[in-house]
Amino acid sequence: MHNERQVTDNLYWVGANEHRIALFENIHPLTRGVSYNAYVLLDKKTVLFDTVDWAVCRQFLENLEYVLDGRKLDYIVINHLEPDHAASLEEVLIRYPEAIVISNEKAFMMMHQFGFHVDDRNIEVKEGDTTNFGDHTVTYVFAPMVHWPEAMVTFDVTNGVLFSADAFGTFNSLDGVLFADEVDFDRDWLDEARRYLTNIVGKYGPQVQALLKKAGPILPDIKFVCPLHGPVWRENLGYIIEKYDKWSRYEAEVNGVLIIYASMYGNTESAAVTLATKLREKGVKNVEVKDVSSTHVSWLVSDTFKYSHVAILGVTYNLGIFPPMHNYLYDLKALNVQKRTFAVISNGTWAPKADDLTRKFIDEELKEMTVLGDELVINSAMTLEQGEEMDGIVDSLKDSLAEWEKDHPQS
Ligand code: FEO
Repeated sequence: MHNERQVTDNLYWVGANEHRIALFENIHPLTRGVSYNAYVLLDKKTVLFDTVDWAVCRQFLENLEYVLDGRKLDYIVINHLEPDHAASLEEVLIRYPEAIVISNEKAFMMMHQFGFHVDDRNIEVKEGDTTNFGDHTVTYVFAPMVHWPEAMVTFDVTNGVLFSADAFGTFNSLDGVLFADEVDFDRDWLDEARRYLTNIVGKYGPQVQALLKKAGPILPDIKFVCPLHGPVWRENLGYIIEKYDKWSRYEAEVNGVLIIYASMYGNTESAAVTLATKLREKGVKNVEVKDVSSTHVSWLVSDTFKYSHVAILGVTYNLGIFPPMHNYLYDLKALNVQKRTFAVISNGTWAPKADDLTRKFIDEELKEMTVLGDELVINSAMTLEQGEEMDGIVDSLKDSLAEWEKDHPQS
């Protein structure tokens, strides 16, 4: 059964939702699915903007056929060649033999690599080129590394629709939703939007900044933002643009403390909860506690982007950093996370090494991080005296939070 929605005059969402895969990119857990968005413009020419993942190709094809309503497909604009969007391209080319693919040089190179047969039916565009489809004229803005090198966005100058590729996308299936203003985005979707952006494109903050800068002059003309995942934006664009600006500058959203602990037998967990309690008692409102072993690292990364301060409570394992904690720290490095303040507490029954190694990793491997000088190394279980030492760390965190507040009055 076809299942499409109208975005605006002559423009339809023809994407599909995925509920069955457990891992996006075979890495990141999906708890509420994901949508793969594609759009059709019915002008004098018909134009498909991107396709979908192979897993949902059948639904997409039904939607496309219904919206075309017997018309032939003239053009397919490919903004992003990653297979979660382009895997169904070959099938569309087979079913619509007159369709011409519009994309850029790098994307066509990748199409060849993936084995798509687009020779003699392709138009290569360059940055700033325009195409007229009848009443509508579009222009192409290259967005390299948002999220692959061939990525571009397409702006319809006639109706103000920005086909934004991965930018402004989010995890979660749409399930009937089309517009962000149909849901409580801040309450129900923001965490997954952050997790999507920070884990998928987090490394490429400067490139996201470059795209935001390029889009600056046309911002007042943008009426709809149509991403390749998640809802379409037609209201309050400043809200999501501000989030993207912060995430891509590696600026925290929330003045608070994310406590991430590793605990094999519960003693470091107890210390982590004690730290949370002490912070709450001192009036710190935003405190979140996460177990590094049971929380997928994609959420830990996302929460690290969210909070200004991180307290790591680690344990020594094989004379090194506990592997899941090491994996988390490695991901912070891989994703270029910066500008956070860390407190480090560790636990080891014999030969405790985690404290020094964690501080060294943060100092030497991560960029623009601050590590508070207070040390607390627990031997097996925290003592009453160490509870007092922890008070010193709490005071340092509180002072640092106050400094952050001063430096970020608008946050
Ligand atoms: Fe949703 Fe980079 O693909």
